[in-house]
Amino acid sequence: MLERLLYEYGTSPMLPMHTPGHKRRREFAGNLPYSMDITEITGFDDLYNASGVLAETMSLAARLYGSRRAFLGVNGSTGCLLAAIYALLRPGDRVLVARNCHRSVYHALEITQAQPVFLMPEIDSETGIAGSIAPESVEKALISAPDTRLVIVTSPTYEGVASDIASICDVAHRFGAVVLVDAAHGAHLGFHPGFPESPIRCGADVVVMSLHKTMPAMTQTALLHVCSGRVDHERLAQAMRMFNTSSPSYVLMASMDRCLRLLDREKDALFARYDENLSRFSEGIRDLKNLSVLGHGRDEESRREAFFAFDRGKLIINTEKTGLSGPEFAARLRAEHKIETEMTSLAYVLAMTSLCDGDETFSRMTSALFALDGGLAPARKTIKTPVFDLPPSGTSLSEAARAEGEPVSLEETVGKTVLEYAWAYPPGIPVLIPGEEVTAPVIEALRALAKSGVTVYSSRGGWPEGFYCAK
Ligand SMILES: Cc1ncc(COP(=O)(O)O)c(C=O)c1O
Repeated sequence: MLERLLYEYGTSPMLPMHTPGHKRRREFAGNLPYSMDITEITGFDDLYNASGVLAETMSLAARLYGSRRAFLGVNGSTGCLLAAIYALLRPGDRVLVARNCHRSVYHALEITQAQPVFLMPEIDSETGIAGSIAPESVEKALISAPDTRLVIVTSPTYEGVASDIASICDVAHRFGAVVLVDAAHGAHLGFHPGFPESPIRCGADVVVMSLHKTMPAMTQTALLHVCSGRVDHERLAQAMRMFNTSSPSYVLMASMDRCLRLLDREKDALFARYDENLSRFSEGIRDLKNLSVLGHGRDEESRREAFFAFDRGKLIINTEKTGLSGPEFAARLRAEHKIETEMTSLAYVLAMTSLCDGDETFSRMTSALFALDGGLAPARKTIKTPVFDLPPSGTSLSEAARAEGEPVSLEETVGKTVLEYAWAYPPGIPVLIPGEEVTAPVIEALRALAKSGVTVYSSRGGWPEGFYCAK
């Protein structure tokens, strides 16, 4: 079934403006996959005790990105983040965590039984997107908790927002903490000045990146980079063995090797072309009336206070002034223009680009935007994402995540300890995490978020009836 669906999708004329980065283009796909699906036979090295071809691939990754050591991950950034956090923390350690981190970070905190202290990013008032983490807020948190061992930040985010990692690292290192950057969406950084700086070059100690999200590599492929001497390389190597399969796919590893060798040979030309395409796209959409694309066209002149830097390879198409919601706009892109996008939110659509996109992608997207821009009436009201405060925390995350509880109706949750997560998208931040106390303002914020069209969901599926709470 799945195979047939994949085949049908693969042979349809749909333009893939979403991950994976190879974009179904034959010239990047090579001859993968089945004929290359082998195991650790003689001459093919062993990922977890590498000294041959796989050691070469890992050295190439470290050289290209400028890290001290790189590990191949076959379980996505998820596996690398679980490994990094497990290696860097011990039970009870204090860790500063950006609240907009991916769920794998939260799961790692559950496993390590660390004590998280959360940092709220700024929120972009126009789109509701989570902005950067301010170095000043890191400093303030470290002054209050100087025994913090680790700072975890996502940069760039799913939507392309980068933080000032160099300043965050300066602050953290002054306090003796190390910095882990989740750059799952940043494997293309560091090769061209038209994109935000790579966190590896900004002084981060460990950086995790999904090759599959923005580069010509297959889904699940990722890199864990060790970038300093402040962390134990061997502990990280051991943790990668724990959180990745013991049968790593040679198809996936061949895909990473192919991607890295392509970068090695052609990165300058590939990124110059990508940058030119994005600049031409910016020029091409200047005369849009109702639609705008973050960082492009006329919008590129409006600096966002909440963003330290922005990756313009992520096309955030703001539909706020068009009278159409994000999902409605995405449906029209799909039906009328055969463009499938990565993600939709209340008032924007996220269309992914990568260095594998050629002229056709940008010209088709430009034509589609003008076709849809022309026929739309300006919206009567603008949509705002409600702001909410972090709820108080009583029980530790790891204890609460495993505790026995019971479903409680929404009205009766106030004052109870929640045992599940409640996420809001945008801004992609959990409003509640296990161990936190449900307060009346939190319930109001969740209701307001849901009412304004934000997607709210809970990890056990309780919302909107109630939550799974401690007995
Ligand atoms: C910010 C962030 N970190 C980590 C991940 C996990 O990456 P992967 O899907 O490669 O496991 C994602 C996935 O969407 C993500 O958005």
